Amino acid sequence: MDKFIIKGGRPLVGEITVSGAKNAAVAIIPAVILSDEPCVLENVPDISDVSISLKILHEMGADVETINASTFRIDPRGINNYCVPYESARKMRASYYFLGALLGKFGQARVSMPGGCPLGDRPIDQHLKAFTALGADCNIDHGMVDVSGKLVGNQIYLDVVSVGATMNAMLASVKAIGLTVLENAAKEPHIVDLANFLNSMGADIMGAGTDVIKIRGVGKLRSTNYSIIPDQIEAGTYMVAAAATGGDVLIKNIIPKHLEPISAKLEKIGVNVQEFDDSIRVWVDGPLVKSNVKTMPHPGFPTDMQPQIATLLTLAEGTSIVTEGVWEQRFRYVDELRRMGADISVDGKVAVIEGTGELMGAPVKACDLRAGAALIIAGLAAYGITEIEDIYHIERGYENMDLKLQGLGAEISKKSFQEEVDIIKEAL
Ligand code: UD1
Repeated sequence: MDKFIIKGGRPLVGEITVSGAKNAAVAIIPAVILSDEPCVLENVPDISDVSISLKILHEMGADVETINASTFRIDPRGINNYCVPYESARKMRASYYFLGALLGKFGQARVSMPGGCPLGDRPIDQHLKAFTALGADCNIDHGMVDVSGKLVGNQIYLDVVSVGATMNAMLASVKAIGLTVLENAAKEPHIVDLANFLNSMGADIMGAGTDVIKIRGVGKLRSTNYSIIPDQIEAGTYMVAAAATGGDVLIKNIIPKHLEPISAKLEKIGVNVQEFDDSIRVWVDGPLVKSNVKTMPHPGFPTDMQPQIATLLTLAEGTSIVTEGVWEQRFRYVDELRRMGADISVDGKVAVIEGTGELMGAPVKACDLRAGAALIIAGLAAYGITEIEDIYHIERGYENMDLKLQGLGAEISKKSFQEEVDIIKEAL
């Protein structure tokens, strides 16, 4: 019900610090279940998907202690419940990682089946294929997925390159008897981060970040202190925001290698990018030019940056073509951008963008997390006022986005639903 109100047209200038990676955190938090001792997680982003994951762990019997805003000590030894109910799972699709972690530790799990999603069909057949190959029985009953069995390592070939299925196969096989060879695995940075976390507890995983991952089952996993990698997509979003506003921003706490597909594309569009060891500077001193973008699994251009880069291309000179190569429906935000003056036509998985050079503020609605981020970028670049509704989507994955952008000079504020009610009451 809360809204972001943005007065656009100001270049973003200054320094901004990126938080821990959402897509790593939502897998690593359930992965703590596999440990036989308490673990400390650092650089955990303060976002609602993380709060939900921690709440699920707590409800299962784990002891979750907050050490500071980004550090948690989790003791999984009290877990006595192997079920994630619909009420928790419906709030966060990534709750499917509890399936792999619980199955890997206790040989059984019951998690609500992930429902529909704004990005299109989100099947979990590849997750279940991996569990079945390891010897689990998988049943879907009244909206719940039940998996159980004594797991033995096996050869698993994923029919589609799936981040979720790759991570779930790793979680399930880390304590299975013998060797698991996972082929056609996804290679995203958060997959390497999950493998590094599991290895820091004593797991034996090799090849993460390539398309063949070998996992030799181990009996026990021990305590670890682990710092989650910086968020590639949060960093990319601020890179695009700097470019879209004609700004000059130093983005700190990043891994430049993870940003290469985004940096390369921005440079083609006419944006300056300078890499340092753990920061990156983005600035604009000339016109933005058209470019074609096709999203692909890592190391291709990430689908989670597609709405943001498309927004930037509405401000560039010429006609750009954006092709979505991962999800069925990832152009739902286009209708909202059109309300801001963008000229975009969509045919299936292809969008044709006629750069108009400018956008104008308008009331709009976020339809998913990255669509919401794109609307913020549009609002920052547009002249006039933009009001963005349904910002709970944005808060799932961006820590304090309004405050971080204010630090770069943006005129953005959050208006709570209660404030609106009070204003209406006063006016009556
Ligand atoms: C993860 C990310 C999401 C990102 C996506 C692709 C998390 C929490 N979410 O989602 O932000 O957009 O990767 O980079 O990390 N598929 C199947 N069967 C399956 C699983 C997937 O057909 O069992 C298909 C999907 O429909 C989709 C494609 O494979 O078309 C990629 O999906 P996947 O990589 O699994 O995405 P998620 O892990 O759900």
